[in-house]
Parts: sequence; structure tokens; C-alpha cells
Amino acid sequence: MKPKILVTREVFEEVLAYLEKELEVEANQEDRILSPQELRRRLADKDGVMCALTDRVDAELIAACPRLKAVCNIAVGYNNVDVPACSAREIAVTNTPGVLDETTADLVWALMLATARRLTEAEAYLRSGQWTGWYLKQILGTDVHHATLGIIGMGRIGQVIARRALGFEMDVVYHNRSRLSAPIEASLKVRYVGMDELLARADFVVLQVPYSPATHHLIGAAELAKMKSSAILINAARGGVVDDAALIDALGRGVIRAAGLDVFENEPKLNPGFLALQNVVLAPHIGSSTRVTRLAMAMTAARNLVAAMTGTTPPNLVNPR
Ligand code: DGY
Repeated sequence: MKPKILVTREVFEEVLAYLEKELEVEANQEDRILSPQELRRRLADKDGVMCALTDRVDAELIAACPRLKAVCNIAVGYNNVDVPACSAREIAVTNTPGVLDETTADLVWALMLATARRLTEAEAYLRSGQWTGWYLKQILGTDVHHATLGIIGMGRIGQVIARRALGFEMDVVYHNRSRLSAPIEASLKVRYVGMDELLARADFVVLQVPYSPATHHLIGAAELAKMKSSAILINAARGGVVDDAALIDALGRGVIRAAGLDVFENEPKLNPGFLALQNVVLAPHIGSSTRVTRLAMAMTAARNLVAAMTGTTPPNLVNPR
């Protein structure tokens, strides 16, 4: 008998074909977000699950799934999973590190450039027929080249973002739980600073930290007040790292110049305050969304799940015993 698994969201056909070789697969190719009740019902007799950040795998769900042995998230972040509750039941939890670093860094750069050069505002102006011709002070933006970039969270993705900044000849400072080694700092031309110094110096503040109780509202009213009034905030990490209400207030009052956001508190519900602002570029959590990368993420999750179901240690285990 093959182990039984549930795939909670639509995946590429080749991923399903790979899973089906080893496992009895129940899939949700219609891609409906499963309610907590439906997830509980469909997972009750499963040995494993391949899930996404839209699924809440909490202690209640785990208690209702006595056979569950693996929770394989199609994401590098796993704040949707109660890891201690899984560990207590010896359920393996896995993520998809590495495969999305470059793609996510590209999106961070797209947000930096679009926000600095007011690209969405400029396009809306043009599409609405308001453009009557060139003039000197038209939609004046902010230079990215030679500006100071401050990266909060200097893990893999943070380092890839910094590498791209070399080409823009930026001055890059960073803040992280632990300092990078001297050779890595030298190769990326980055300098470690305290959080307050970073907020005070940076023209662009880029957040690249995972969400956890420790990073909840890492950027709130007090931190925004420490930034330059000309500064731009970019968050493509996780909703909840920024206090959205405080950010909307700061953007409206000119405490900072602008923001580029791919993630939100309570997404997909967007704080309507954002929609009334021109100085914010908004994207619907598409940081890792290229075909190549989303396929790589789903295949990574699938390999983790097959490993866990066939008695080997999954390559990306986040809760080793
Ligand atoms: C991740 O991998 O955590 C991303 O947010 C999913 O796109």
C-alpha cells in the first residue's frame, strides 16, 4: 500500500506525476482554498501533506490527523505551520530554501526601481490620457544608483539583493542577527550597522526577515519616524513584519517618501488605506512567481514529501530531532 498524501493547492502536472509514482495522491487541482474544516476532513486519513502558505497547519489540525508524518510547505517561509506542535508528534516539517532566492531578489529590485521612479503612478497617468507632453518637472523620481541601501535580514535572499546593488554602485549597509564573515562582507561590499543607524542612513530600507513573534511589527511608527523623509521602504518578505496601519499613516503624512510592497498583514485582505495612496507600489505576493521558480519550489516540496514518506530524511527538514 502506498502512503496517502494530500496536495492542498494546484501544482504543475509534472509534480503530480512525480508524486504519483511513489504515493497515493489526492490533489486539489481546482485550486480552491480549503476551509479549515475541509482541510481537517481531507487530511484525517493522510500520511503526508504538501501545502502552501494559504493553509494553516495548527495544533488543532494536527490533533485531528493521527496518521500525519510530514508537512511539506511549498515556500521557504513556514510561519503558517505550528512547528513545535509538529515536532511534539514527530511530524517532519520541510520548506523550499535556495530555489527562489534569485527570483525573489529580482522582484525586490523591481519594487525598488518602480517605487523610486514612480512607474505605476506614471503608467496610470499615461493610460488615463492626462499626458500632454514632456516637461521638466514631470513625475520626478529618486535615483537608485549611488544611493544607500539598507538591508534588514542578510540571509540568502538578502545577500543576492546586495549582489545586484554592486551594479548600481550603491553604498550597502545591513543589519542581521549575526554578522556575515569578513570575506563575504568584502565580496558584497556591505557594512554591518545597528538597526537605528541603518534606519537613519538608508535611502532604501529593504526587509528580508522571516515572520515570527520576534519580527512582528519590526517596522512600526517608531521605526518609520527614524527613517529619512526621502526614504523608501520595500517589503517582499512577510506581512506582519510591518505595521500596515502605521505605514499608511506615515506614507500619508510624508514621514517617508514611498513604499513598495509584495506582502501584507492579513493578506489577501488589503488595508484599504493603501489604495488611496499614490506613493505606494503594490503587488499580490508574487516575489517567487516565475514558472521556473514556482516549478522548482513545488518539485522541492515534492522531493521532501517523497523522502519523508519513504523513510529517508527530507533534504529540507526544518525540525530535525
Ligand atoms: C516563500 O517561499 O515563503 C514565499 O513567500 C512564497 O512565495
